[in-house]
Amino acid sequence: MAGLFITMEGGEGVGKSTQLVRLAARLRALRGDAVLVTREPGGTPGAEAIRQLMLHGGHDFAPLTDTLLVYAARAEHVRLLRAQVQSGGLVLCDRFFDSTLAYQGYGLGVDRGLIATLRREIAMEPDLTLILDAPPAITQARRAARSIDDRYERFDAAFAARVAAGFRAIAAAEPQRCVLIDASGAPEHVADLIARALEERLGVAC
Ligand code: TMP
Repeated sequence: MAGLFITMEGGEGVGKSTQLVRLAARLRALRGDAVLVTREPGGTPGAEAIRQLMLHGGHDFAPLTDTLLVYAARAEHVRLLRAQVQSGGLVLCDRFFDSTLAYQGYGLGVDRGLIATLRREIAMEPDLTLILDAPPAITQARRAARSIDDRYERFDAAFAARVAAGFRAIAAAEPQRCVLIDASGAPEHVADLIARALEERLGVAC
C-alpha cells in the first residue's frame, strides 16, 4: 500500500483531540503498526524539547520567534515523517503547517510570505488535511470547561476568531488538499463526517 500523510487542524475547543483519538483507532484497526500518530510542535525528542520551550518555558517569545521555533521543530519532525511515508506507512499528525499560518500568520500578524517560504523550503505536503471548524459559542464553552495548558490558550476571543477565520481561508484556498469539517455536532456525527472525507478523498474506508 502507498504511504499516506493526513493532518488534522483547528482552533482551540473544536474537539480535535477527541477526533484524533477516534480516527487513530479506526486507522490502526485498518493498517495496524503502519500507522504513526504524532503531533506538532513535537513528534521527535528534539522537537518535543522545542515544544516545551515554546509553550511551557515561561518565555514571552515574539510571534516571529514562535514561527521560527515551530519551523525548527518541523524541520526535525519532517525527517521522521518522510521516512514513514516513503516506507508505505500512514501518518496522522495533530497540527502541521496550517497551524503556523493560522496562529502566527492570521492570529499574530507574522508575514505570510515568510511563512509560505518556510513551508516551501521545510515542510512536506499532506495528502489530506482535515480542518475542524465550530462557531465561537461552542468553542468558548469547550475551552471554559478545561484548564489552560499552554501560552496560546491564554489568548482572547478576538485572537481565536482570527485563527478560525485563517483556517477557513486556508480551506477555501486549497480545496484539493483540505476538507472543512463542521465540528459543531455530537462527536459521533463529526467522526462520521471525517470518515466520509477519508473515503471520498483517499479511498480509505474506516
Ligand atoms: P495543541 O494544544 O493542539 O497540542 O497545540 C499546541 C499549541 O501550539 C496550540 O495552542 C497551537 C500552537 N501552535 C502554533 O501556535 N503554531 C504552530 O505551528 C503549531 C503546530 C502549534
